[in-house]
Amino acid sequence: MRAVDIIMDKRLGKELSREAIGFLIGGYVAGDIPDYQVAAWAMAVCLNGMTAMETAALTETMLVSGARIDLSGIEGPFVDKHSTGGVGDKTSLILAPLAAAIGVRDPMMAGRALGHTGGTLDKLDAIPGYRTQLTVAEFRATLDSAGFAIAGQTKDIVPADRLLYALRDVTATVESVPLITASILSKKAAEGADALVLDVKYGSGAFMKDPLEGEKLARSLVDTGAAMGKRIIALLTDMNEPLGNMVGNFLEVEECLDCLEDFSKAPPDLAEVTLELAARMALLGGKVTNIEDGRALCAETLVSGKPLSLFLKNVEAQGGNVRQLCAMRRVYRSPFTATVRAARNDYIARIDAWKTGHAAVILGVGRNRASDTVSPVAGVQLHKKGGDTVQQGDPIMTVWGKDEASLAAALPQLEAAIEYAPTPPAKRPLVLKELVHA
Ligand code: URA
Repeated sequence: MRAVDIIMDKRLGKELSREAIGFLIGGYVAGDIPDYQVAAWAMAVCLNGMTAMETAALTETMLVSGARIDLSGIEGPFVDKHSTGGVGDKTSLILAPLAAAIGVRDPMMAGRALGHTGGTLDKLDAIPGYRTQLTVAEFRATLDSAGFAIAGQTKDIVPADRLLYALRDVTATVESVPLITASILSKKAAEGADALVLDVKYGSGAFMKDPLEGEKLARSLVDTGAAMGKRIIALLTDMNEPLGNMVGNFLEVEECLDCLEDFSKAPPDLAEVTLELAARMALLGGKVTNIEDGRALCAETLVSGKPLSLFLKNVEAQGGNVRQLCAMRRVYRSPFTATVRAARNDYIARIDAWKTGHAAVILGVGRNRASDTVSPVAGVQLHKKGGDTVQQGDPIMTVWGKDEASLAAALPQLEAAIEYAPTPPAKRPLVLKELVHA
């Protein structure tokens, strides 16, 4: 077999055999097939898609590129949540300790920033000392003691996704139903969760722009995951505006700490999506028998303060410095800062999520090349969102760049992200649909 023939077949829209997919991915992980050939193949997949058989074969090949985490000896149930990617999409940092607090353990394999979307691992890396590259023994010990562990792919666990994820990020090959399905489900199968709640985003700030495309992705995830023996609930949620008020690595950790401390002050959109996902984690974990009871249990638990103490326990267990983390709140900011102000008296129709996410990458929150490091302190704080009114000159955003040049380059993009309207905008539902295989 030759990689070039496999690329050509996919470029011509042919169905690839399991063997061909195994040859390409296996060769890539072994270092025998170079980045540029895999990038060309990924682009052909983006353009021509994959059949259900190919998607399942890719997922399994990526899974067996490394070891599975053995959770035996740790008390379950094990339920994880994963998002397909958004802007300001930080629910994992609230959900994992919340699930742990209701007695559902969350073994979370997460990702870095991808395209214009943020990454859980990059956010956690903003905490001094926090380690997201864990050995299996460390992952198990943290899961056992704090009720959840969050780690990235390693050279031993889903190494194929570790390589492909970074390659897709910088080659415009993220937006593909089969590539996203295989990336997410190979990680989720390797981590050992029994059940999954998937937050499938649609809208300008998501990889799937319209609800129908989002539903196609949700269906692919639910069907492929079910064939692998997972119980799954997928929620199709709106990503036309950033979720919550913060977009940035440390900024989002800080917003999650604020929510864990006092959930009644959480931004309403972040609170709603978090509770809807949490209720389904409670259901799949067998802690309740219906969604309504799940919502009530999770809302009560948030007030108890237990999720906050488990979050801090996890930070310690993964090497983070809790005292330093607490001292950094409200002060750990880039010195390169500016305010974006309202251009006129009007309603805000929405703050466009894609433009905000794209500007955040320019500010230093994400990467342009695989070798780039992200800035922990770059980002955007939104003071106004869709439905709010503004008077000319009101602050709409506070912006921090990794340096002066990135700040200057991002400001016009952020100004363009603000959409004004003379009348109140129609309210969009945050949760559009639920797909279940439980
Ligand atoms: N999240 C992942 O883990 N992989 C993708 O490809 C997209 C979102």
